[in-house]
Order: sequence, then C-alpha cells, then structure tokens
Amino acid sequence: MLRGKKIIVGVTGGIAAYKSAMLVRLLIKAGAEVQVLMTPAAHEFITPLTLATLSKRPVHTLFHDSGNGTWNNHVDLGLWADLMIIAPATADTLAKMANGICDNLLLAVYLSARCPVSAAPAMDLDMYRHPSTQRNLAQLRADGVHLIPPGNGELASGLHGEGRMAEPEEILAHTEATLSVKQRLKGRKILVTAGPTYEPIDPVRFIGNHSSGKMGLALAETLAGQGARVILVCGPTSLQVHHPNIQRVDVMTAKEMYTACTKVFGTCHAAILSAAVADYRPAHASKSKIKKDKSRPFTQIELEETADILAELGRRKKSGQVLAGFALETDNEIEHAKAKLKKKNLDFIVLNSLREKGAGFAVDTNRITIIGKNNKTINFEVKAKTAVAVDIADYLAGLMEKKS
Ligand code: CTP
Repeated sequence: MLRGKKIIVGVTGGIAAYKSAMLVRLLIKAGAEVQVLMTPAAHEFITPLTLATLSKRPVHTLFHDSGNGTWNNHVDLGLWADLMIIAPATADTLAKMANGICDNLLLAVYLSARCPVSAAPAMDLDMYRHPSTQRNLAQLRADGVHLIPPGNGELASGLHGEGRMAEPEEILAHTEATLSVKQRLKGRKILVTAGPTYEPIDPVRFIGNHSSGKMGLALAETLAGQGARVILVCGPTSLQVHHPNIQRVDVMTAKEMYTACTKVFGTCHAAILSAAVADYRPAHASKSKIKKDKSRPFTQIELEETADILAELGRRKKSGQVLAGFALETDNEIEHAKAKLKKKNLDFIVLNSLREKGAGFAVDTNRITIIGKNNKTINFEVKAKTAVAVDIADYLAGLMEKKS
C-alpha cells in the first residue's frame, strides 16, 4: 500500500537517528519514494551519505545546497509529500513544532506541509516526562500530529524507562495505518456518548458502574480520524481524547447526559450511544454528607428511574439520521438486543456480552455482534477496542452512504 507514496522522513539530532536508516530502508522496500530532511544536529549522529544512499535521493538540511546553490523550496517539499514522518523527534524539535518556530529547513517544511504528519519522540525518560515536553506533546496532538508512542526499555543513557523511539517496524505499521485511513465520514457530524454516569447519594457518595469509557473514546477517535466532526458526551473518566475534530462535553449524571445529548442531536447526522447510563438514581440526594447515626440508620436508598436517552433520541429521529446503541447483556443476548433495537427505534445495535472472555469493562479488547434493522447479525472476532471501533465506524459509514 506504500507503493508510489511520497514520504518525507525528517531526522533530528538524537541517538535514535541510527534507526532512521532502517526506517528509510523499510519504506523504500515497501515501494515508497522517500525524501530525507535532516536538522544540522542530526549530522552529529548519522551521515547524510548513509541516508542519501538508502533513500536514493540527495538529503537536504539547508535552505540552499552549498556548491550548486540550488534553493530547497520548503513549500514545494511540503506540497509534494503524502506523509511527513519525523523520526527521531527530539524534545527540542517537538518544542519548536509546538510553538511554530522554524529555524531550519525541516521545521519550515513541517509548517508548510498539507499532508498528515507523524512524529516518533525519542529522548531520555526524564526529558520525556518533563511537564514542558508533555505540554508540547499535548499541543501537537491538538494540532493533529500523529504521535507514535515511544517504547519502554533501556535508554542510551543507561537509564531504564519511557522515551526510546518506536522501532522502525512499528513506525512502518503506523505509517501504513495513517495512509490507509479513509475519510468516509468527512462532512458528517456525529454524537457519541461514553463512560459511566455517577448518580449522587450525597456530596461524597454516588451510584456508578464499571464502565471505563475506553470503547466510546476509541469510537470517537476513529470517527474523527475518518473525517467526522464528533461531539463526545462523556461521563466521568480519566481517559483523554486527542483528535482536533472531537468536541468533548463532560457530564456527571444521566440527567446532564440527557440534556447535553438532546441539545445537539437535531444538528447531527448520526449518534452512537455507548455510555453505560444509570437506569435508576437516588430519588433524594442529600445536600450534606450522610452520617452514621445509630438512632436513624441509613440502610435504604429510594430510587427513581432516569430518562432513557437512547429511546428519547429514537423518538426524535428524523429520516436520514442514523441512530445506534449498545447492549450489554448477560443472557439471551441476541433476543434482548433485537428487542432494544426495535423498542428504541435504532438503525443498528452493538451487542457485547459480559460472558465473553476479552470483552466488557476496563479491558482493552472487545467482542461484538452488530445487529441491523433487518435483524441481520454480523459476528466479529475478539479485537482491540481501537480495532472494534473501526468495524463500527465502517458499518456506520456504509449505512450513511446508503441513506444519502
Ligand atoms: N441508554 C441510554 N439512557 C439510559 C439507559 C441506557 O441512553 N438511561 C442507552 C445506552 O447508552 C445503550 C443502550 O441504551 O446504548 C442500552 O443500554 P442497556 O443498559 O443495555 O439497556 P437498557 O435499555 O437500560 O435495558 P436493561 O438495563 O434492562 O438491559
């Protein structure tokens, strides 16, 4: 799939630059055209001759090549590329990228590039952990740079920890994934709910559930990666999303989630509700902390039903809108999921069973069955939640293409 793809490999001044030679070799072997750019500091770690020989092209470092005086037009280079990979990306280069500084050719090309940009950070663990580096990485994620996470292991300094540049094979796999992402959902606005809800008993305690939000957040990232504008209404979770196409609305309770979803659903082309919403909440949340009181023991909580957000959106759904829900079942799974599909007026439902190994709360994998309006079921293998998200996004995109 990399055959004929034009890829800029940006090499900056870190010890991991020796791995760039292997990366260039792998990309060339896969059929890509590779243009290597180096920062002046990178010359301290690997020779331009090595990279020029492997890439079969002259390597550029300066805005003009000494000797023949040819101008290396950064704008042309930025427009030429289908992808720019900066590997290794040192703390210094990441900081400059995050702040729009362009005091060398590589950085000027980064600012000019219209193609996706990936960066593979490489540095010592304390530099990687430093709040300023983490701030710069967060900024770059928000700017849409695909960060290829560093590995954990022995570092050139002799220390052990996070910061080692991803291996060339991993960067190659990441490159293939970045270039294969289809923009099937461009121009679509999609509502996604994720995570649990917390229903207060008093200011300290709540009724919640084990949902981590992993599946919903993976879904939001995948839909955004395929070009959709995503409104992510998210219950309490410590997880982060990074895609600039995602607008995150944090909520706590089922009621807050209901308000946030009903406010935006009318403007959306589709909604996928994956949140584990509480079906019941304490009817009277105490304003002050409930004390242990022997004369008036607190042994019962009166509950009331919460509004079913998915069912309400099903009632409001207009023709052309696609609505999907999740079903988490422990028995008679298919039968229960089909009943929910019909009752809540859904276009499809994603069933996951708590009985399956590798599926359910807090694990990184899931095994789903998608049931469509015609009751047609598709069974999927156990996969990483990120891969499950791609299956769901593909199903949704197919449905939306059929409807429009
Ligand atoms: N859901 C919702 N609002 C609620 C309860 C559930 O939007 N108050 C949504 C969930 O996000 C999920 C779907 O409904 O997409 C199914 O949730 P689930 O708890 O499996 O089903 P319920 O309809 O609540 O039925 P039950 O708990 O009896 O299985």
